Amino acid sequence: MDFENILIEIEDQIGLITINRPKKLNALNKATIEELHHAFKDLDEDEDVRVIIITGAGEKAFVAGADIAEFANYSVYEGSQLAAKGQELLFNQVERMQTPVIAAINGFALGGGLELAMACHFRIASDHARMGLPETSLGVIPGYGGTQRLPQLVGKGRAMEMILTAGMIGTEQALMSGLINQMVAQELLIPCCKKIATKIINNSPVAIAAAINSINAGYNNNGYKKEIESFGECFGTDDFKEGTTAFLEKRKANFPGK
Ligand code: COA
Repeated sequence: MDFENILIEIEDQIGLITINRPKKLNALNKATIEELHHAFKDLDEDEDVRVIIITGAGEKAFVAGADIAEFANYSVYEGSQLAAKGQELLFNQVERMQTPVIAAINGFALGGGLELAMACHFRIASDHARMGLPETSLGVIPGYGGTQRLPQLVGKGRAMEMILTAGMIGTEQALMSGLINQMVAQELLIPCCKKIATKIINNSPVAIAAAINSINAGYNNNGYKKEIESFGECFGTDDFKEGTTAFLEKRKANFPGK
């Protein structure tokens, strides 16, 4: 498959995926999600690739979220399909990969961007990265696993605060709360991830896959299904219409509250 929105390099048994829509801050449109799905599948099946690193093109953004322009006019049904398909095609796929996936967060990781980073097995961020789940400021909720994976990583109280305020946190706070494992200077981000990858490559790939499966097994519950239903319901609200329209018109939202 030819890719238009992502770049792939393989070197020293490490696969590097770069999401490459810098003019849209690497926002995840449907085409990019499809391409990522195929890229992850191919790399997981390639025995010569032992670790995968995913990052965003440019210095400004890892991924600034799902593509708001694409879903602003969706119905309740389309909204729930968006969440269900995205979770299955990409976010659950990444979490279940048998090859370890490291998120190299090089800038804004917002909404679907932070959800993608959280689906990875762990995260390293550059010192100027900013992270958040701003969906409630658009009249919707995180729909790509964010209501489940954020509390798993940072605890319920911190996740509640981040999701309810729709605010962003910097790298130091993310490090303190366990959202990321390390903070490094921008120019050291990929070298640092590669250094960790090299340590992983020294270990048994069979044992690594078994460890991933075993750790993931501890987090199985029905929360993802509830998130899909609630995410879809948001698409029937006036608040959602106002939130997404305000973003696209570059103004502050004035929510009617229904
Ligand atoms: N979906 C679609 N387009 C997006 C986007 C998204 N999630 N995030 C950024 N973009 C686009 C902008 O619309 C803009 O496009 P334009 O140049 O054609 O107008 C371009 O990327 C650059 O973004 P801009 O907002 O001008 O950059 P900024 O530096 O002023 O602000 C952010 C950066 C990240 C704070 C801001 O882009 C933002 O809030 N993005 C949305 C984040 C979000 O709510 N994500 C969750 C979605 S569910």
